This record gives sequence, C-alpha cells and structure tokens, in this order.
Amino acid sequence: MTPDSTAPLDRLGRHLRDLRVSVTDRCNFRCTYCMPRERFGSDHQFLPRAELLRFEEIARVVRVLAGLGVRKVRLTGGEPLVRRDVTELVGMLADIEGVDDLAMTTNASLLAPVAGDLYAAGLRRLTISLDALDDEIFRAMSDTKIGVRHVLDGIEAAQAAGFAPIKVNAVVRGGVNEGQIVPLARYGREHGLIVRFIEFMDVGTTNHWKLNQVVPSRDVLAAIAAEFPIEPLDPNYTGEVAERWRYRDGGGEVGVISSVSRPFCRTCTRARLSAIGELFTCLFAAAGTDVRAWLRDGIDDTALHERLAAVWSGRDDRYSELRTEETARAAKVEMSYIGG
Ligand code: GTP
Ligand code: 5AD
Ligand code: SF4
Ligand code: SF4
Repeated sequence: MTPDSTAPLDRLGRHLRDLRVSVTDRCNFRCTYCMPRERFGSDHQFLPRAELLRFEEIARVVRVLAGLGVRKVRLTGGEPLVRRDVTELVGMLADIEGVDDLAMTTNASLLAPVAGDLYAAGLRRLTISLDALDDEIFRAMSDTKIGVRHVLDGIEAAQAAGFAPIKVNAVVRGGVNEGQIVPLARYGREHGLIVRFIEFMDVGTTNHWKLNQVVPSRDVLAAIAAEFPIEPLDPNYTGEVAERWRYRDGGGEVGVISSVSRPFCRTCTRARLSAIGELFTCLFAAAGTDVRAWLRDGIDDTALHERLAAVWSGRDDRYSELRTEETARAAKVEMSYIGG
C-alpha cells in the first residue's frame, strides 16, 4: 500500500505525520510543571503493568498508522527509559516501512548505559529535557536528587554513541530558571547541541499554570541575543514546532517553542498514543480513543486502518489557539500520561 493514497485529512485539512508513543506514565523525576510531587506522590496509582500495550501491540498500531501517513515516531513517557527492554521496541519500530524518523524524548538520567544499544537498535534522534545547569535550580525545576552532572554524562555518552545533533528542551518558568537561559545556550554552543526553550504550558490540571508565569519566547530570544548575536533560520519542515535561530558567529543553532504566545495548531500533524493504547488527537484533550480495546477484541488490520482513519478525519483540535485562563482549568490529560 502506498501510504499516501489513502492518507486522511482532518477537518481542518491537516495530514497525520507525527506520532508520539508514551511507553509508560512513570518517571524518576518530578518536574514541577509536569508531575508535581504533591499530586504524584508515593501513593499515586500509576498504570498497572498488565494494562500497558505490549511491544507487539504498539508496533502493530504504528504500522497501521504509517499506512495513514505517519513518518515520524517519537517515544516518550513519562520517562521512556524506565520501561523495561525499551530497546527491543526501538528495534521493532525501526523496521516499520514508512517510519523514516525515529526519536526519543528522555530526561537522560538513565541514558549513559543504554545509549549505544539504542543507537544500534535503530534510534537516530534524541531530545533531552534539561531546564538548568545550576544544580540547585535544576532540582527546583525537576525535583529530583539526581544531579545535573548525571544528565550531562547521559548527553555525552549519547554523543559518543553517534547521536548527532542532540536537542535539549528547556521549559522556562518565570522567577525560577530564567537566569539559566544564557548558561544553557552557552553549554549548547560549546557542545554542539540544539537547545530549545519552551514556554510553560497549561497541560494537565496539576501544574498550577498561570499565564503570568509564562516567559514569552521573545524575551528568551532577547536574553540570548544580548549575549550571542542570532539571526532567524527557515523551518526544516512545514509545521515544525520550534522556531529556529542561528548564532551569527557560527556557534550553531538555538530555538524557541512558543505554544502559548504563537500557537502552531494550524499545521499540527501530531497524534499521541498513551501507554495503555488510547489515541489522542491533541496534547490538551480530555479523552482519547481506546485502540487497545479494538486490538484485544481481535480487530483485523483493514478494520483497524479504517477506524483509525475515521478518528483522524473527525479531528478538529486547535486548543492552543483557543486557550484562555478558563480553558486552562478544564479537564485535560496529564503530559506524563500522553508524553511530550
Ligand atoms: P523535532 O522532531 O526535533 O522537530 O521535535 P519536535 O519539536 O516535534 O518535538 P519535541 O517533542 O521536542 O517537542 C518539544 C516540545 O514542544 C514538547 O515537549 C512540548 O512541550 C511542545 N510540543 C510538542 N508538540 C506539541 C503540540 O502538539 N502542541 C503543543 N501545544 N505543544 C507541543
Ligand atoms: N509546559 C511545557 N513543556 C512541558 N513538558 C512537560 N510539561 C510541560 C509544560 N507544562 C515538556 C518538556 C519536557 C517534555 C517531556 O515535555 O519539554 O522536556
Ligand atoms: Fe519526567 Fe519529563 Fe515530566 Fe520531568 S518533564 S517529570 S522528566 S516526564
Ligand atoms: Fe496540536 Fe493540540 Fe498542540 Fe494545537 S494544542 S498544536 S492541535 S496538539
């Protein structure tokens, strides 16, 4: 089947291109903007292991979605590296026809020992979450006992394993890590990393999001430009989430992700699969479609293709364009549940 012959468009004319697969809702960090400890404490009920999609089930859904247009697959969590044997899944997804970009978003704390195996299994792109270089500020953002050095070791091990260029995602929270923008940019320049600064978003309902805590990307860019002159770059592809900039002195690339101040729903080609097999058509959705139920009822590939096509065809999500302080309080799934 040529994937694009039957590729559906959603109700706003958008293709499906990019699938985020959450392999676990667990994480060894408690970033305040994602899994605040008071809501994700020791009594939090994570998904029971038996509920999770098996790797064969994930690979089957990805294969059918590749037939509907998916070209890029990103493994996320929670923290994907806490899922046992995730390297095996990487190998299975790397073999799927049509999937030509296989990436992972990780906090890198568990990366150093497995970076080589991930590369050998077919993973080619890594995005690392890191919000500060200063240990104290890092701990204030990520609420973990793990030190920054551990994350940097993970990044360096991944570079040694062949991943290049690695991206670093830093969420900026007003009054907490704004002072880390320039140090992170400098670290990126020195180590050949593409650092991207993300506006704090109202994902989920637990992170106490307030519009006045969002540091707009224009302020981030001004802080960087004051230290290292920059100029804009064209997007790598239509619908790229990050706006790209380059250092005028040849020091590499830096970016901003402005989901709050400049929403990018118009070109959003992303779907998300939760660890228990619900398909979400927006990061801010309250509910997804229970694909696991279909799989476990014995659906065949043709029917699965048709039902998934129908889900995408019915999609009209554009949450970030409609966001207000009121919508921010509405019921929404947590980011650790459906992945960044
Ligand atoms: P590349 O494939 O390297 O271009 O990465 P990407 O920009 O597609 O993905 P990444 O997972 O690195 O996205 C970075 C961050 O952007 C995420 O952690 C989110 O904070 C935000 N983001 C990604 N996708 C969406 C989306 O669909 N909607 C919104 N509102 N934010 C998103
Ligand atoms: N706002 C912006 N980005 C977030 N992430 C998680 N929660 C938020 C939020 N509230 C992103 C971070 C992290 C990735 C896993 O998800 O970029 O790196
Ligand atoms: Fe874990 Fe990433 Fe969420 Fe932080 S942002 S709690 S590292 S899943
Ligand atoms: Fe896509 Fe929803 Fe994000 Fe808009 S808010 S870019 S529709 S995931």
